[in-house]
Amino acid sequence: MAVERTLTILKPDCVRKGLIGEVTKRIQDAGFKILAMKLTRLTADTAGGFYAVHKERPFYGELCEFMSSGACVPMILEKENAVADFRALIGATNPAEAEAGTIRADFADSVGENIIHGSDSVENGQIEAAYFFAESDVVANNA
Ligand code: RTP
Ligand code: MG
Repeated sequence: MAVERTLTILKPDCVRKGLIGEVTKRIQDAGFKILAMKLTRLTADTAGGFYAVHKERPFYGELCEFMSSGACVPMILEKENAVADFRALIGATNPAEAEAGTIRADFADSVGENIIHGSDSVENGQIEAAYFFAESDVVANNA
């Protein structure tokens, strides 16, 4: 299996609930290496750009409002098969449908406020990583 990178965001509900440490520990315990991370706050416009693929969806306005409602923590992660393995670790979009033991099943309140983002492909992960980080922010040899 190929080593891949994926982009995650600990969303504003994760930060508000004081779960940065607990969720980051799960990510590291699952074997993901953190290559870049920061605390930041999106504006409604930057959140809208990040989720532009959902522009026509009925929840887009709510999503932009939520993602800009407080601080968030984007990270670039690396691991073999990172994209699929990370989606498995976080669970289904709707926490009510997420498998037991996944991050969303354990910590999320609703489909709108679901604690964490994970890229859905390597290509989108690269685009999303560039949204938050410069090449010089990425620490590739951090073992
Ligand atoms: P994400 O991109 O955040 O990792 O989530 P995902 O792939 O599991 O789900 P996606 O379909 O890409 O939706 C992006 C985010 O939009 C919000 N959402 N709200 N109210 C709703 O029905 C609804 N559906 C989606 C969620 O915050 C979801 O994570
Ligand atoms: Mg998505």
